[in-house]
Amino acid sequence: MNDLDKASQLIKNDDLVVIPTETVYGLAASIYSEIAIKKIFKIKERPFFDPLIVHISSVEMAKELTTSWDETCNVLAKKFWPGPLTIVIPKSDKIIDLITSGLPDVGLRCPDNKLTLKLIEQLNTPLAAPSANKFTKTSPTLASHVQDEFGDSVFILDDGPCSLGIESTVIGIKSDAIQIYRPGSITKSQIESSLNAAGIDLKVITGESPVSPGALKHHYMPKKPITLVKKINPTDESVSTWIVPQDAVIASRELYSKLRAMDKENTNSITIVLQESFKGDEKFNGFLNRLDKAKTVDYYFI
Ligand code: TXA
Ligand code: MG
Repeated sequence: MNDLDKASQLIKNDDLVVIPTETVYGLAASIYSEIAIKKIFKIKERPFFDPLIVHISSVEMAKELTTSWDETCNVLAKKFWPGPLTIVIPKSDKIIDLITSGLPDVGLRCPDNKLTLKLIEQLNTPLAAPSANKFTKTSPTLASHVQDEFGDSVFILDDGPCSLGIESTVIGIKSDAIQIYRPGSITKSQIESSLNAAGIDLKVITGESPVSPGALKHHYMPKKPITLVKKINPTDESVSTWIVPQDAVIASRELYSKLRAMDKENTNSITIVLQESFKGDEKFNGFLNRLDKAKTVDYYFI
């Protein structure tokens, strides 16, 4: 049996599978299996108030899970799917309350990974999947990260390193505006331009959703304290230091791997050196958002 068939079998048997995506690895269950969905919350130690993103392989599949697919959704899906955009919209009856934490809306995303898309197609079943890490801890961008956290308790569909490295941009569609709940690789300007090009007159605003984990003050955290600085300190052997690359794509791709690696080093704390210019650069929004929640002390943001 190949890995894909094994993964299909597990999902059909109310079990979990770790799926690769272009952002981070996800811990997936069939949306139709209440047993499997409950397992997600249990092994992640995730509270039930934090809703799960549902992964689909086509717009047709997405339309069955919502009662309000409209032209705006069409435009955004055409432009950004498969890709790192999660669209939060009113759910249909196919989505059980456990997935949305009782909220009337569901987050839908079509991931840009061939193996995972094939798995969803083969099963003809959408997969609910949060990032495959313990609640509030660092997300995994390699199969070995998942292994470190969950051991052999879950089957991992290994597809190498995730190309983007930070979680999807999450947006909510309101009647008068689009709200970015969680910043990611897809920026506000990119969303605005795609709407403008299609003649859709909707404002794009930022502001975390009270129900997004982004709204939690601490998230994505390694065990060691993290200090964010603008200038490198004289070398201190008890500190692991990472000078962040100038390119937002590379910085985002490396972030979680670096945090995990530095957490394993024989040091007491982590220092991350950032350029002043990152703050005004939209491409760094997602990256800085994650660091802001992972950090302990901050000489950069103030
Ligand atoms: O890139 C990603 O989005 C990854 C990969 C695996 O797809 N997934 C991910 O899932 O980051 P998770 O569970 O770690 O974060 C998803 C966040 C939730 O914490 C939640 O707050 C927000 O997306 N979200 C999901 N459904 C929502 C809803 N119905 N309303 C508001 N926010 C929602
Ligand atoms: Mg997560």
